[in-house]
Amino acid sequence: MVNSLLLAGAAALAAAQVDIPEIPGITYGGYSYVNPSGQWIPPTTAYSKGEYKQVVMLSFDGMHQFDLMDYVAKYPNSTWATIILKNGIMYENARASEPSDSFPATTALFCGASPRVSGIWWDDVYDRALYPAGSNCTGPIGSEAAWDESNDLNSSLIDGGGALNPVYPHNYLRVNTVFEVGRANGLVTAYADKHLTYEFMNGPSGVGLSEIYTPEVASVANTIQAQLAWDDLHWSALRNWTKGNFANGTTNPDGPPSMYGANFQAITWAQTNAGYLDALGAQPNKSLEMALQYADARLGTFLGDLKAAGQLDSTLLLVGSKQGQGPINAANETFISDVHLTASVEAAGIKVAQTTADDGGIMWLVDQSQAQAAKANLLANTTLGVAYVLAGDEIQHAGFGSPWLDSRVPDLIIGAKVGYLWASSPRFEDHGGYLPQDLNVPLIAYNPYLEPANNSIFVSNRQVASTMVKALGLPLAQLDGYRIEGTPVLPGVFKWDN
Ligand SMILES: *[C@@H]1O[C@H](CO)[C@@H](O)[C@H](O)[C@H]1NC(C)=O
Ligand SMILES: *[C@@H]1O[C@H](CO)[C@@H](O)[C@H](O)[C@H]1NC(C)=O
Ligand SMILES: *[C@@H]1O[C@H](CO)[C@@H](O)[C@H](O)[C@H]1NC(C)=O
Ligand SMILES: *[C@@H]1O[C@H](CO)[C@@H](O)[C@H](O)[C@H]1NC(C)=O
Ligand SMILES: *[C@@H]1O[C@H](CO)[C@@H](O)[C@H](O)[C@H]1NC(C)=O
Ligand SMILES: *[C@@H]1O[C@H](CO)[C@@H](O)[C@H](O)[C@H]1NC(C)=O
Ligand SMILES: *[C@@H]1O[C@H](CO)[C@@H](O)[C@H](O)[C@H]1NC(C)=O
Ligand SMILES: *[C@@H]1O[C@H](CO)[C@@H](O)[C@H](O)[C@H]1NC(C)=O
Ligand SMILES: *[C@@H]1O[C@H](CO)[C@@H](O)[C@H](O)[C@H]1NC(C)=O
Repeated sequence: MVNSLLLAGAAALAAAQVDIPEIPGITYGGYSYVNPSGQWIPPTTAYSKGEYKQVVMLSFDGMHQFDLMDYVAKYPNSTWATIILKNGIMYENARASEPSDSFPATTALFCGASPRVSGIWWDDVYDRALYPAGSNCTGPIGSEAAWDESNDLNSSLIDGGGALNPVYPHNYLRVNTVFEVGRANGLVTAYADKHLTYEFMNGPSGVGLSEIYTPEVASVANTIQAQLAWDDLHWSALRNWTKGNFANGTTNPDGPPSMYGANFQAITWAQTNAGYLDALGAQPNKSLEMALQYADARLGTFLGDLKAAGQLDSTLLLVGSKQGQGPINAANETFISDVHLTASVEAAGIKVAQTTADDGGIMWLVDQSQAQAAKANLLANTTLGVAYVLAGDEIQHAGFGSPWLDSRVPDLIIGAKVGYLWASSPRFEDHGGYLPQDLNVPLIAYNPYLEPANNSIFVSNRQVASTMVKALGLPLAQLDGYRIEGTPVLPGVFKWDN
């Protein structure tokens, strides 16, 4: 099945009209459209003041920059090698967000903001200023805020039960999204991600996205075939959007989106469940190899879709990854359940409000003044694999904001030693931490008329947001991430920057 998809780049472009083939034996029936009520801004203006008419961001979650380099070396006829790099600007030193969990990683891409500014630290966090759900805002203040699939009405279903429990994730975000900027200027916007909670990309207005498509990945079987089939739902939605339809294929009277994006999960799933066969990640295990080849082939098909729609020349396509993963060297991995971080600190008589950790972690304490004592405990406990800890004021000094002044900033930021993983259950890899395995991601800006370049300057995934806004000629000052953090556009993309 997958082998038939190993289209060479040029062949993939020619195959533009071929429909996304079904993977036999797997059927999904449903989508979720989380459209919270709110002000509807009718899309009227076709923006043409920018250099591009469309901007698209695709994230192959989990992919490292070295995966891309290895892939193009191994498959010189791939889409990545023959199309994307041929007219793409490759950022060789692009960095994911810190922490590198999916929620702040997504926020970086589409808000241009870091956790200090966005208030988004992880998908499972703690806020000292919130009361727990169901408490009627009485009793002790401070609560967990979980923005993962546990928010769904039923995460065993592909539509997540059709809705979220009340209190929308977008209410939690402190800055606007690129989609809000686009929609406020009359553009059609669309986004696809893995859980219903990614409706937070609507931004605080709740209406930044004309359409969001979030089939629940947690409902999908733990096999590479099922994960590829889930990715295909996103590819299919992208194709339908490019054609000017809703994700479900029905004609959208407002036409195709000007600003859209999607993530893909098969690569990150395969890293988590199979990993690499060697210490350096040069040899992906079978399902990971399959996921990489599949992504390459589907990317070729998507370029064909853009071409068939007459949009390829006027689209700025950004391809990258919201975060990497680790450990890379499975032979040298130490798995320690994340409960041990809490247990160690509590054994020293320090009460923990919440710990969230994978290959790095964050911790909130009941009594914030005990942060240095908790740090000393974690560093002294050699079984845990803690490389370093930032505690209390050190967090602010490192640029993450103040745990004293901001109710969401954790009391401890915990760095793992290479090879250690503190997830909830054993796995090959996960993400969230601050190691090169998490942060060194691929990022390419592509358009058929771009001069190819390899740019070694350090850039942040946050710059994707500013670049998306500027590509369409929208005012950068309308993006909170740009205004507050000064997040620059990616170098080399725009003519007047050269
Ligand atoms: C790449 O394509 C060319 C031309 O079609 C072919 O001759 C060559 O064998 C291919 N290389 C690989 C590694 O597939
Ligand atoms: C919250 O208020 C409702 C309605 O007044 C009441 O039924 C419920 O028992 C209260 N819950 C708590 C935890 O106080
Ligand atoms: C969630 O959906 C699954 C699959 O249909 C079903 O078995 C389960 O009973 C549902 N759970 C709830 C709480 O409705
Ligand atoms: C497709 O999606 C659009 C937009 O959400 C909706 O209005 C329409 O009813 C859907 N069509 C079908 C056949 O479900
Ligand atoms: C996209 O549209 C086609 C019909 O053109 C439909 O078969 C397919 O299911 C749609 N994709 C999604 C994700 O709903
Ligand atoms: C390859 O992946 C399989 C799961 O798909 C796993 O059982 C196996 O241990 C992996 N091999 C190595 C050498 O990591
Ligand atoms: C395994 O990891 C430890 C530290 O986590 C390191 O000291 C050691 O060199 C590593 N061994 C190999 C073979 O990579
Ligand atoms: C180290 O951590 C383990 C696991 O949480 C805990 O059982 C142990 O008490 C800790 N040791 C010290 C010295 O804190
Ligand atoms: C950028 O690097 C890739 C991979 O090493 C190489 O294939 C490509 O030719 C380089 N592009 C330029 C413009 O130097």
